[in-house]
Amino acid sequence: MKISEWRLLRAVPLLFARMGMMLSKYWDSPRRRERVKLLLKIRSQRDMLLLPCEACQIMSLVDAVKNVPGDMAELGVASGASAKMISARAPERTLHLFDTFEGLPDPSEQDSSRFNNKQYRYTLDEVQEYLKGANVIFHKGLFPNSTKGISGIQFAFVHLDADLYESTKAGLEWFYPRLNKGGILISHDYDTSAGVNQAFEEFFTGKPEPYFDLVGSQCMFVKM
Ligand SMILES: C[S@@+](CC[C@H](N)C(=O)[O-])C[C@H]1O[C@@H](n2cnc3c(N)ncnc32)[C@H](O)[C@@H]1O
Repeated sequence: MKISEWRLLRAVPLLFARMGMMLSKYWDSPRRRERVKLLLKIRSQRDMLLLPCEACQIMSLVDAVKNVPGDMAELGVASGASAKMISARAPERTLHLFDTFEGLPDPSEQDSSRFNNKQYRYTLDEVQEYLKGANVIFHKGLFPNSTKGISGIQFAFVHLDADLYESTKAGLEWFYPRLNKGGILISHDYDTSAGVNQAFEEFFTGKPEPYFDLVGSQCMFVKM
């Protein structure tokens, strides 16, 4: 097969996924319709890097932890699109937002060459403006340095969207002991980023929880 044919074969399903085709049977309940409406609203305001099906999976998990105590967190905020969505589904909970707000740090040798230093750069000011009024706390800086001084917080829901090996590994190490029983952590870029896969494989060796991949490029686990 020629490279151009191979690219086309990959591009067509991706285009359909971006258009939300994987959600063609997602309208069956009022709760699902609410999620899709929120997704459409946020996509009209901001570039959303998540596929529509991935965004709906996140909203479903935020809803699922309603009886688990704890705050919520996102590592990898970029423009604030996914943060807005998470916060809107559970406005009563504090959402902690961790990002350099200067784009990706340097990738390491474990990472795919598609990631670059400073990629996805959005300033703290513009994201704060977009999330004005939401129940969020910003933690600007390189994670996990940006966690220094945070103590006594437990989480019910965590979204990792940091793309890189070192960042994902640090995210798993920091959030895992702070996730309450029944709490959920979901990560983007599983099976599409070698660094994220390696971080999960290494971290979960010897851990009791199974982690599993979802439609799109996410994986998740429930804390036991
Ligand atoms: C793909 S973007 C996040 C996209 C966002 N969740 C969305 O759906 O709109 C990845 C983000 O991770 C941040 N990031 C990656 N590693 C980081 C680290 N170690 N510390 C702080 N931020 C990091 C980058 O600055 C970038 O904004």
